[in-house]
Amino acid sequence: MRPRLNKLITQEAITQALNTLNTLRDFLRWGLTQLKSASLHFGHGTDNALDDCAYLISHTLYLEPKLDPVWLDARLTYSEKILLLQRLQARINQRIPVAYLVKQAWFAGLSFYIDERVLIPRSALAELIEQRFEIGLSDPDQVHAILDLGTGCACIAIACAYAFPNAQIDAVDISEVALEIAQLNIEQHDVVERVHLLRSDLFAQIQKKSYTVIISNPPYVEAAAMDTLPIEYRHEPELALRAGKDGLDCIVRILREAADYLTEDGILIVEVGLAKQALIERMPQLPFLWLEFEHGDNEVFLLTKQQLIYSKHDLAE
Ligand SMILES: C[S@@+](CC[C@H](N)C(=O)[O-])C[C@H]1O[C@@H](n2cnc3c(N)ncnc32)[C@H](O)[C@@H]1O
Repeated sequence: MRPRLNKLITQEAITQALNTLNTLRDFLRWGLTQLKSASLHFGHGTDNALDDCAYLISHTLYLEPKLDPVWLDARLTYSEKILLLQRLQARINQRIPVAYLVKQAWFAGLSFYIDERVLIPRSALAELIEQRFEIGLSDPDQVHAILDLGTGCACIAIACAYAFPNAQIDAVDISEVALEIAQLNIEQHDVVERVHLLRSDLFAQIQKKSYTVIISNPPYVEAAAMDTLPIEYRHEPELALRAGKDGLDCIVRILREAADYLTEDGILIVEVGLAKQALIERMPQLPFLWLEFEHGDNEVFLLTKQQLIYSKHDLAE
């Protein structure tokens, strides 16, 4: 087994790279070596060093998100080289995920502005939205109201606006700064008329209303795991990750209240990540339907309003 390296990029190496690297191919090759020798964590939009490097290069140079080989022999200008090298240095020395460096992330094929005020979108829920929740809905065109709890940059809410053209979407977050970013994205995607932001502690400030779909990617990292997360995650808002001793703080509250906000045929879809096991142990009677994904683990459940009502006793505090 190879030893784990943890090499930082020095100022001297940057100066040398500035003088010797010219083409995109040069930067891709050199950048890849740097990323690989730094024991980084990948998981914020890419899952390996090559894709991470290509993401950084293509977004820094405003090229197509998937780096086209046609550009590989193009030479960079001096200012492009400086910017790219500064970003590579920040990626490695400070472990800042690429998405924060280029201030752009992708979700359900859509582009979103992001910075460290919001979690980097990566939820498996994108796949379900693109399939228009076909697993739980008889007629997606009849979906008129959707609620996104813990909206962050509003990626889920906005993707829903594209997938469900007849729906109004309420997007809720407790974080004021996250809502600022959500607002930017809503304007950028021109869905101001259909995606409505609300600052609320889960359901607390939501007016009684019935939604066909309540969807959420809430915080679900348990206290002990918070301390062992790779440094990359520490650039993300703690509020977006930390969820009490067992990771269930938000999830259980959502389960207890969702039925009051669903239409008779409404469904609740929640990503629970690594809190899945704790959830099953805490609520063994609940008839969770664990959804399967092409990309991602089956850590998302679906429950109908009827199942939630039926499970009222199991959900009681
Ligand atoms: C895991 S992030 C998900 C962000 C976005 N939906 C996504 O999938 O990328 C969880 C979000 O829930 C928000 N949040 C945390 N606690 C909350 C609460 N009690 N009420 C409402 N939102 C909350 C956080 O601010 C954060 O934006």
